[in-house]
Amino acid sequence: MSEQDYRDLRREYDAEALRRTMLAASPMEQFGQWLAAAQEKHPDDATSMSLATVDSQGWPSARIVLLKHFDEQGLVWYTDTHSRKGQALAANPRAELLFYWKGLERQVRIQGRVEAVSAAEADQYFNSRPLGSRLSAAASQQSSVVPDRAVLEAAVAAMQERYPDGQVPRPARWGGYRLLPQRFEFWQGRTSRLHDRFEYVRQDDGWLIQRLAP
Ligand SMILES: Cc1cc2nc3c(=O)[nH]c(=O)nc-3n(C[C@H](O)[C@H](O)[C@H](O)COP(=O)(O)O)c2cc1C
Repeated sequence: MSEQDYRDLRREYDAEALRRTMLAASPMEQFGQWLAAAQEKHPDDATSMSLATVDSQGWPSARIVLLKHFDEQGLVWYTDTHSRKGQALAANPRAELLFYWKGLERQVRIQGRVEAVSAAEADQYFNSRPLGSRLSAAASQQSSVVPDRAVLEAAVAAMQERYPDGQVPRPARWGGYRLLPQRFEFWQGRTSRLHDRFEYVRQDDGWLIQRLAP
């Protein structure tokens, strides 16, 4: 069917309230609490996040990546740095990460500047990945055009032959990025669309916390 109408499709959000008094002073701590709750509710998907970038022409672009580490400094994911997102980040090292935890009726947005993780950090994570993932990363130039799947499979087989002992080195173009948060927004669904939203905005001396209209 080529046409569908969803105007009458709606649901009530009524899981729980988010109050100013419940918020942690540090947004990363607040994020950690929500992520832990999300991992209980969605053990498979909690760390998947939408990464939005803007390229040198001003075009936005979004895709899912997996959160691999976070701490007070920032949030880390790994990818091919020559991919479309890598090229956008090279031209414009700013991004937004978005988590949606359906079962909790929660959304978190985190905006900030992005920097590359160190080669040592990237090596450490790359070497911890299963062999198949390392071979694929070495064989696939992410976001480039390929004629067919057979070409990719042949490239993986060639890597397997090249590294029979499984010691696949991290490709130079494969690495990690860390988003250094400037702004967080925590959204909790409430009834009749009167949702709770709080933003944390980084200031010189800490975080400004304010409620936003839904
Ligand atoms: C659940 C899920 C997890 C993903 N995790 C990653 C990831 O951690 N790193 C990555 O490079 N791509 C990941 N991808 C693939 C990306 O969404 C995307 O297709 C790829 O990175 C190429 O994006 P680009 O052409 O915009 O650079 C994931 C996709 C899904 C659906």
